[in-house]
Amino acid sequence: MQTIKFFKQSPVPVEFHKPVMVQALQLPPVEKRLEAILAAGCNTFLLNTSEIFLDMLTDSGTNAMSNQQFSAMMLADEAYAGSQSFVRLLASVREFFGKEHFLPVHQGRAAEHILAEAFVKKGDVVPMNFHFTTTRAHIERMDATVRELIVDEVFKTDSDEPFKGNMDIAKLEATIKEVGTEKIPFIRMEVTTNLTGGQPVSLANLRAVRKVADKHGLLLVIDACLIAENAWFIKQREPEFALFSLAEIIHEMAKLADIVYFSARKLGAARGGGIVTNDEKLVAKMKDLIPLFEGFFTYGGMSTREIEALAVGLKEFTDELVISHMPQSIAHVVNTLKASGVPVVTPAGALGVHLDAKKFLPQVKSNQYPAGALAVAIFITAGVRGMERGTISNDRDPVTHQEILADMELVRMALPRRLFSLSHLQFLIDRLQWLFANRELIGGLKFIEEPSVLRFFDGKLAPIGDWPNKLQAKFKKDFGESL
Ligand SMILES: Cc1ncc(COP(=O)(O)O)c(C=O)c1O
Repeated sequence: MQTIKFFKQSPVPVEFHKPVMVQALQLPPVEKRLEAILAAGCNTFLLNTSEIFLDMLTDSGTNAMSNQQFSAMMLADEAYAGSQSFVRLLASVREFFGKEHFLPVHQGRAAEHILAEAFVKKGDVVPMNFHFTTTRAHIERMDATVRELIVDEVFKTDSDEPFKGNMDIAKLEATIKEVGTEKIPFIRMEVTTNLTGGQPVSLANLRAVRKVADKHGLLLVIDACLIAENAWFIKQREPEFALFSLAEIIHEMAKLADIVYFSARKLGAARGGGIVTNDEKLVAKMKDLIPLFEGFFTYGGMSTREIEALAVGLKEFTDELVISHMPQSIAHVVNTLKASGVPVVTPAGALGVHLDAKKFLPQVKSNQYPAGALAVAIFITAGVRGMERGTISNDRDPVTHQEILADMELVRMALPRRLFSLSHLQFLIDRLQWLFANRELIGGLKFIEEPSVLRFFDGKLAPIGDWPNKLQAKFKKDFGESL
């Protein structure tokens, strides 16, 4: 890998791309930020981009596309069936994953829908390293449950453990013994684990999971939304693969799975998704669902322009200069914050910078949503939109309707690929340091409108007390003006 050496300056992540097209940003004054977040029901999903300075909600569909992707979009072959754009995408998918069959879908959760419909039945249990919100919702929709078997180390937010996304093999064996193989439609591995701070899975762990799956005749499914970044971490942190290319590592990973699925809003910096496998019998179980729910087999709900962009994007996602930018930017912010005492998830993972809201706001009880409150405070302070990844992101228990308190209360500031500059990162660091110094001003939240499924998307909350006003007043006092 090419790394830039510095003479006197402390090393910083260097962008191996330049903006050839730009979008103007604005930073609304603090009064407007406060007004906007209260009007949005203290839910960052309900903000408008016109109210936001840096949108760090997600990397989903927000990655900067390359000039190569844009130029490929002009070659789109518009056809319902047999489009040449799809032929190009199929070749690219085969090369990327080393798997033969590809069922296109319109986004990641659509792949989860197909998998749930095809394999999961009432009463089933799906063992996985960790759930993702839409994955769990699709499995529970079939009256089945997920079982999270991630290593305990992940719940220690400040850690040096390189692979906190790993499955605990002993827990997996115990679950299979307890539940019985007939109730397990597949084992699911998410690489990297989104909700625990974008933490990677090692190849050694994937091999161990494969061994258990083989022993019990179970299928192994990989959620590959962040497989390229996971491969990059494997190269950095697992000595056996230090000299492998990202393409080779991705093949090693995909080889271990019966089925791989992905969201192209993340992987490939386009929009769309897909399910890949080498097994014709598995294709047969899913195939009929594609035209029913997604679209014909040669577009699956994607536009031909997105298909072209994805075909190119997948090629770019094996380039270390493209893939390393996000994790290196995250590491820069995480390590700087950690050095100044701000509680962050370490080691730095993929996807974004994760703050530990339980440590940041010990005064806010779990049932008053510390991560949700911190996301609100960050928006007021910086105009940065992050995402709550804690109890609000857990729906209530579908049977008892009890609150499921999250093991970790995280706020994620996603750093989409190739999007933000170093000055944006420095601004984020500065505002978070100010907020940490003023953390005692922040209070909790309560629901005022609570949907029963995926409530974090459009639920509305209100502050408990008038802490947002106090925070605004302190901001104005310290900064002397309202930006
Ligand atoms: C791990 C993981 N799986 C599945 C999905 C769902 O993908 P989509 O948003 O394209 O439906 C996401 C999206 O963030 C994800 O991170």
